[in-house]
Amino acid sequence: MLTVRVELGERSYPIVVGAGVAREIAALLPDGVRRAVVVTQAAMRPFAESVPTGVETAVVEIGDGEQHKTLSTVAALHDAFVAHGVTRRDVVVGVGGGMVTDVAGFAAAVHLRGVAVVHVATTLVGMVDAAIGGKTGVNSPGGKNLIGAFWQPSAVVCDTDSLATLPPREWACGNGELAKYELLLGERWRALPLEERVANAAAYKARVVSLDEHERTGVRALLNYGHTLGHALEAAGHHELRHGEAVGIGLVFAARLAQRLGRIDAAAVDRHVDVVSGYELATEIPAGYDADELMAFMQRDKKAIDGLTFVLDGPGGIEVVSAVDDAVVRTLLKELVS
Ligand SMILES: NC(=O)c1ccc[n+]([C@@H]2O[C@H](COP(=O)([O-])OP(=O)(O)OC[C@H]3O[C@@H](n4cnc5c(N)ncnc54)[C@H](O)[C@@H]3O)[C@@H](O)[C@H]2O)c1
Ligand SMILES: [Zn+2]
Repeated sequence: MLTVRVELGERSYPIVVGAGVAREIAALLPDGVRRAVVVTQAAMRPFAESVPTGVETAVVEIGDGEQHKTLSTVAALHDAFVAHGVTRRDVVVGVGGGMVTDVAGFAAAVHLRGVAVVHVATTLVGMVDAAIGGKTGVNSPGGKNLIGAFWQPSAVVCDTDSLATLPPREWACGNGELAKYELLLGERWRALPLEERVANAAAYKARVVSLDEHERTGVRALLNYGHTLGHALEAAGHHELRHGEAVGIGLVFAARLAQRLGRIDAAAVDRHVDVVSGYELATEIPAGYDADELMAFMQRDKKAIDGLTFVLDGPGGIEVVSAVDDAVVRTLLKELVS
């Protein structure tokens, strides 16, 4: 078992990683807990039911898919917490991918103005990203994740055994994020066992969260490496690229853009291609995308306050760069989509 700590003063917590670690969950629940409500989805129900909390436990299912990531799901969870008598001394346990932990975390944050939550991540994305850092929330007609709260979990459990049933596209999603962390750290993880890759990625995210819990200083923005174009590819949606697949393409695009801006050399671009393709992810923009449409989506990005913003590699390492010249980006995109 590998343990990583998220250092946040009195709200610090452990992330435990390894095969079978969900069996140790009882030791990770806050002291004095008497009841637990496990929030999960149908696909993980058997696994969720096997998690031994050691206290009186009810299992509640929520719907699968972003269309269920809503306030009405949170209201239904609140009703279930009331029905099961969840008090401030009890705990919510989210067992699932990022969708479950985001919703369960938010429901815990607002039930009785905040009850403890423990996340048991069952997707690679959850283990290396979504379950860590306390960002919880739901979608609204205004957009994705616009309603939410920072609510740190008491512990995060990454049981790699739970990934045995993870569908291939969900692996691809997590691999896009792993490629991102490898590039951010300038390391190569190909030869490492999964458990170590997960722990390394979780440790990076944990450090960033410790430095910038509420996304105020901009450190956390580095986690958006590959995401500027990635989000635009997802939004344009012609090929229904999954998030991590789009991030893989976005990472290589960010490297090409950095090269075009004179920040890095061809060898650095090759390193990006090598890391991303090492995860069996696409490195090129698939046919059918329109450069102008992608530009429009990037300009609408919520981070594009001072013109186009990219996370870019450079002589001083990877950093957030604002006001990137639109014309350079558009020209490069036009070359790459044709
Ligand atoms: N809070 C954050 O910091 C943060 C970061 C990244 C993503 N997110 C959010 O996370 C969500 C995406 O998370 P995700 O990629 O984990 O997808 P997801 O939670 O939607 O799960 C994807 C699918 O896999 C299924 N699944 C999960 N674990 C499984 C398992 N072990 N075996 C079989 N099936 C399994 C789920 O039921 C679902 O159908 C989005 O809503 C996104 O907004 C949050
Ligand atoms: Zn991402």
